[in-house]
Amino acid sequence: MDRKELIKKFIDFFKSKGHREIQNSSLIPENDPTVLFTTAGMHPLVPYLLGQKHPQGKLLVNVQKCVRTDDIDEVGDETHHTFFEMMGDWSLGDYFKEGAITNSFEFLTKILKIPKEKISVTCFEGDKDAPRDDESAEIWKKLSINKIKFLPKKDNWWGPAGKTGPCGPDTEMFVNNVEIWNDVFMQYNKTEEGKFSPLAQKNVDTGMGVERTLAILNKLDDNYLTDCFLPIINSIEKESDKTYGKNEKDTKAMRIIADHIKASIFILGDGIVPGNKEQGYILRRLIRRAIRYAKDLGEKFSVEEVAKPVFEIYSDYEHLKKNKNKILDELKREEIKFLETLEKGMNIFEKLTKGKKEIDCKDAFLLYQSYGFPVEMIEEECKKRKIKFSIEKFEKECKVHQELSRTATAGKFKSGLADESLQTTKLHTASHLLLAALRIVLKDKEIIQKGSNITPERLRLDFNFPRKLTDEEIKKTEDLVNKQIQKSCEVIRQEMPIKEAKEKGARGSFDSKYGENVSVYTVEDFSKEICAGPHVKNTCELGHFKILKEESSSSGVRRIKAVVE
Ligand code: ALA
Repeated sequence: MDRKELIKKFIDFFKSKGHREIQNSSLIPENDPTVLFTTAGMHPLVPYLLGQKHPQGKLLVNVQKCVRTDDIDEVGDETHHTFFEMMGDWSLGDYFKEGAITNSFEFLTKILKIPKEKISVTCFEGDKDAPRDDESAEIWKKLSINKIKFLPKKDNWWGPAGKTGPCGPDTEMFVNNVEIWNDVFMQYNKTEEGKFSPLAQKNVDTGMGVERTLAILNKLDDNYLTDCFLPIINSIEKESDKTYGKNEKDTKAMRIIADHIKASIFILGDGIVPGNKEQGYILRRLIRRAIRYAKDLGEKFSVEEVAKPVFEIYSDYEHLKKNKNKILDELKREEIKFLETLEKGMNIFEKLTKGKKEIDCKDAFLLYQSYGFPVEMIEEECKKRKIKFSIEKFEKECKVHQELSRTATAGKFKSGLADESLQTTKLHTASHLLLAALRIVLKDKEIIQKGSNITPERLRLDFNFPRKLTDEEIKKTEDLVNKQIQKSCEVIRQEMPIKEAKEKGARGSFDSKYGENVSVYTVEDFSKEICAGPHVKNTCELGHFKILKEESSSSGVRRIKAVVE
């Protein structure tokens, strides 16, 4: 079975069970500043798992592009890769364990035709946060799956995707001891304090990796031999004149190049360019790592040639097709930049080692740290010139610097993060004031928050309103918020049952995501919102409020970006 066939089977199966197909979201999470990339199909669905109504209903299915970089150093073996596609299906407060497990079983045995004797499963063994999942085990037994293990949280619990959010116990399915699928029962919300509070809505979130499933179905013990990778591997073979699988070193290099180039293309495709922070930094690292390994395979190696098959494998991604030239240009540009860096490094290397029998570990570290010269190349160049290079001494030197930089980072964290969280807290309160001011200025009591995204730099608020705001309305809104700030109003937090909060006139767009008791934040009789916080104690802490931009977000929804200074 090939990639397209598998995906079609998955989507069709769940459609036949009443699920609606939803779009494949961007790799850059829209509403979660705590993580750099979309790491699972559920990530873009967080608001809906928390109770917001999904426009396409309660039963959904899709295939989602994902990037996970935690294991970047493991890439090179048969199974690790940073980019992958996850097939997933969801029940947002509709069916729960029985429905999920029965569907999984049917898809595995009837559609993929995996004999049930080959299937084993694991379930959550229970702890202080949640009970043992006997219910799932019983359902499996009824389906005559009897190879069941109970495991602790580190194995059988999934989420949240970021620091906080929906999560829960899961049941994992294995075929001949290789994990194929994960059904997560998302019924808890992990809070900032690390508590697991029950969600009003019990959800199912499942994830099945395309590459691994294809390997299992095609009896391959190497994901890189599936059609998600093979054309890339073949073009690397052609470029390097080396054979995949012949020796470990080259095979490892080929896998790293294939994975990193593919991941880079998808990240570029979602509008990120190589840079020195956040997603841009990861992208730069992926591209440069791929080039470094490519250089090992052969001098004439063209990264562009290796990139081309990616567009063919993933021809179902329209945005890749549309941006192909732009993506290839960026790759080329980064390649040139990196080669220049290497050239500079080479000159320094020559100077530092001239007439020497051994390279000083401090010099080696300087090359590595300040000139971005890869260690493997230092090693290689020394070898060529018969200069001694002690990797042990080099590593020791690295450790010393790591310690130093760790201390420096810790220091930075102390001030940086503290400032950041204070800044986001201010912006949370500013969002409430903004919402209240909009209702007054636009004379529309029905205005509610349709979405919010807060980073230390700015707030972004989406709200329902049918037209563009005039300059005068924007000015009036700003003035009204600033008036509340200047009045130094206390921001009062009260806990109360949701019913009482509503009776008292509190607003909050996603009512059902909150449990029984909710926090209500009140600023005089100006603003009263149900919210999980955090907020400042007094509006005077905000300083000065300023709207940067007002624009359309989607039909009937406006978006404001604003700052406090
Ligand atoms: N979100 C779950 C996972 O990534 C399904 O495994």
